[in-house]
Amino acid sequence: MDSALLEDFKVWLGNDPKLSEGMQHLDEFRSLMTCYQSVIREVRTKLDILNDEMALKEDRNPIQFITSRIKKPISIGTKLAKKEKAISVASIRETLNDVAGIRVICSYTDDIYWLAEMLTKQDDVYLIETKDYIKNPKENGYRSLHLILEVPIFLSDRKEAYRIEVQIRTIAMDYWASLEHSLRYKKEMGDAGLGLELEVCAREIAAIEDRMLAIREKIDN
Ligand code: GTP
Ligand code: MG
Repeated sequence: MDSALLEDFKVWLGNDPKLSEGMQHLDEFRSLMTCYQSVIREVRTKLDILNDEMALKEDRNPIQFITSRIKKPISIGTKLAKKEKAISVASIRETLNDVAGIRVICSYTDDIYWLAEMLTKQDDVYLIETKDYIKNPKENGYRSLHLILEVPIFLSDRKEAYRIEVQIRTIAMDYWASLEHSLRYKKEMGDAGLGLELEVCAREIAAIEDRMLAIREKIDN
């Protein structure tokens, strides 16, 4: 685990009234975060392999780029508290699906479903949940495919499965989500009808994506 994350953990546990108890578990937290980091690596490699294979077969890359992150200790703590769960390694593993997160940015919507299918049919990948915000966009216009997966990692003396949230979206969906995200964190702007405008943008983006895909399919044929 990187040292900045460890420092975050110390600060977070320091805020907990059961400080000394929390500090005793620091090593456990470190090793847990290392496991989540390993799951990210596993899934990234799976995605890279699928991307390389399609590049070879179809001469194009379904994946534009991949980003990943480990949830910050403070966000882990806040989410556990909201759910009224204890702050422990066991409770993090049981309660949270998104400590490890990967975002896969694709070119076209059909790439998203292809990748999701190829990933989830692998025999060491267990699909816990799918949220298809592309077929069913959120009310604000948000679109993306979310998968919660459980993937094993192999340690020196055991095999353990960890959950990971995989968000798969197109460049245009990502572009939209970044702007909407910044609106969300600037509530002092008091919306000013921007939410509504973003929703219209989301629909227009979806329509353009459909047309672009149709053009690509014509070129492919
Ligand atoms: P969380 O408790 O927020 O994780 O909600 P959830 O477990 O019901 O998960 P959901 O799959 O709805 O969303 C998880 C993640 O997707 C969020 O942490 C964001 O990264 C992203 N997301 C979901 N909805 C939106 C949205 O409306 N706008 C943007 N920009 N991102 C979103
Ligand atoms: Mg989540």
